[in-house]
Amino acid sequence: MIRVENVSKSFGSFKALDGLTLHAGEGTVLGLLGPNGSGKTTTVKILTTLLSPDNGDARIAGHSVLTDPDLVRRNLGLSGQYAAVDEKLTAFENLHMVGRLYGMNRRTAAARANELLASFRLTDVAGKRSGTFSGGMRRRLDLAGAIVARPKVVVLDEPTTGLDPRGRLDTWDVVSSLVADGTTVLLTTQYLEEADRLADHIAVINHGRVIAEGTATELKQSAGTERIDVVMRDAADLSAAAGVLERAAGLGLRAEQDPQNLRVSIAAPEGHRLLVRVLSELDARALPVDEASLRRPTLDDVFLRLTGHAAAAAPDSGTTEVLTPEKARVPA
Ligand SMILES: Nc1ncnc2c1ncn2[C@@H]1O[C@H](COP(=O)(O)OP(=O)(O)OP(=O)(O)O)[C@@H](O)[C@H]1O
Ligand SMILES: [Mg+2]
Repeated sequence: MIRVENVSKSFGSFKALDGLTLHAGEGTVLGLLGPNGSGKTTTVKILTTLLSPDNGDARIAGHSVLTDPDLVRRNLGLSGQYAAVDEKLTAFENLHMVGRLYGMNRRTAAARANELLASFRLTDVAGKRSGTFSGGMRRRLDLAGAIVARPKVVVLDEPTTGLDPRGRLDTWDVVSSLVADGTTVLLTTQYLEEADRLADHIAVINHGRVIAEGTATELKQSAGTERIDVVMRDAADLSAAAGVLERAAGLGLRAEQDPQNLRVSIAAPEGHRLLVRVLSELDARALPVDEASLRRPTLDDVFLRLTGHAAAAAPDSGTTEVLTPEKARVPA
């Protein structure tokens, strides 16, 4: 349904996309995950015919952006990173206008607008000028606009950036129901949690190239073994604790220290058995521990290993770990 074949795009001498290849089957969600400047929006612009590729081709529902841009646009709904709503119109009028542009009669366009206003919790403000809306409301209205005509393919560029937790959940629900209806979605995000939750297939990109792809589970497995994290009570004990972890783990494994969070961590091929040894040794040495855990690799680990730096933490969830520079030195 969505195919990007060996696309390159340069701005002057800067290569924003460098032989990018992507594929999303019908009714699936492809998550394009990458840090700032990795080429996500450039990819979206090429798929939506706003930019043309220097090399390669991209296809939506079989139509090439090079030879059939009109057919591409007809099969596509776009919600951009920067919301494109008409501020002079009300929420209802914005959606109604989009429906009319797609050739719906007044009554059908109005019914569709009202349906979408309800699913995006905008019914109460349907008659308000969208210029007065908060960023999150505008974002939701923009997303609703993208699906007015029930396109086969929807491209969403960072659909939840700037939304509050409720807005993010709403958006995730909408994406899930689109997919349940058979829509194919390409979604860019900097949030691992979002890719993990929504995407059937994830392509991690950096410098305009795919550096890893697979399901969330496959990517996590590729990040290797479980890890032990120990949070110490006293910063002064960090080095001693790191020594304990390294001796307990053996195999020449190195512990990482994160002084900001008083945390030391190490790969744990033996899992919980190592955790037990580490805790009894720390106890024997009277090094007080605040928290200790064994954790499976997360997409964060994958991302860090591949790109050398951390992904963005979701602004509000607190569940995505913010990695410190200390950790960012882990060799690939
Ligand atoms: N019109 C342009 N002229 C020059 N450079 C550009 C242009 N558009 C994008 N770039 C550069 O291309 C690179 C990729 O940009 P792009 O917007 O695709 O990144 P992104 O992955 O969407 O980043 P973000 O997460 O910040 O939205 C960036 O380094 C950007 O500065
Ligand atoms: Mg972008």
